[in-house]
Amino acid sequence: MKNLLSIESLTAAEIEGLIDSAAELKATRGSHAEQPLAGQTWAMIFSKSSTRTRVSFEVGVRELGGSVFFLNSNDMQLGRGEPIKDTARVLGRMVHGAIIRTFDQQDVEDFAKYSKIPTINALTDEEHPCQILADLLTIRERCGGWEGTKVAFFGDGDCNMGRSWAWAAIRLGFELVIAAPKEFQPASDFMSRIGDYTPVTITDDAKAAATGADVLYTDTWVSMGKEDEAADRLRILAPFQINDELLSLANDGAIVQHCLPAYRDKEITESVLEARENEIFDQAENRLHAQKAVMAALAEKS
Ligand code: CP
Ligand code: NVA
Repeated sequence: MKNLLSIESLTAAEIEGLIDSAAELKATRGSHAEQPLAGQTWAMIFSKSSTRTRVSFEVGVRELGGSVFFLNSNDMQLGRGEPIKDTARVLGRMVHGAIIRTFDQQDVEDFAKYSKIPTINALTDEEHPCQILADLLTIRERCGGWEGTKVAFFGDGDCNMGRSWAWAAIRLGFELVIAAPKEFQPASDFMSRIGDYTPVTITDDAKAAATGADVLYTDTWVSMGKEDEAADRLRILAPFQINDELLSLANDGAIVQHCLPAYRDKEITESVLEARENEIFDQAENRLHAQKAVMAALAEKS
């Protein structure tokens, strides 16, 4: 593994190895035997807002012995039109790794190709692989693993989270049901890419999706960059809210997960979020441990 650009590009063994390493790093936080980023400087280039991703990477690099700096792409020549491949070739000669949050997946792919340094996708419109790794760690901690687990994703099934969940289910073989209205089901080009035989089911029946689920997952209905569509999205996605009624259909012991930020009484009710805050904020904490595992793995290869 030279980069983390998507869940699609990982094997099951790579995903499982990262989750094992994340659990180990979590257990040994504050007393790591090794400092895999010692002597390294990593750059973070973000074109979108962030709380969890930015903080967890900034803390994570330091805990692994490295230095890190943050750049808003608008403050760079990138924001005035300098091509990503030129930016990548400059940074590739100066820093040891890059963490990029942007719109177009091709930009992180190009950055990795031209910079030749370990590159991490910190969210694009296509995928959010770091979030999925943290979610899988949480599912392992809370449900004992994902084998035989039914994950139900509610809301915008065609956003980065829906797509990354689909790849995780395909790679690891657990059942995933994406419950979304027709307008927000994964697009046909994506469905043809994942193929006919997958553990992924798409439905517009939220109750059927929740029935027998072990994990109820949601994400904002208005992803970054989609603000102009907010009014339509809130109206069309309203029947896909995680609330007490939906939760009552899930298996005993089912957990609720939200990648955050959460919009109360939109994709999740205030009461469900607060009743399940422990599992949701454990999930947020796991961003730190999962991303440290990713950086440690990439540093080993570079
Ligand atoms: N879940 C997540 O990526 O959060 P941020 O947008 O705050 O980084
Ligand atoms: N789908 C959301 C995820 C936020 C972490 C977005 O892209 O805004």
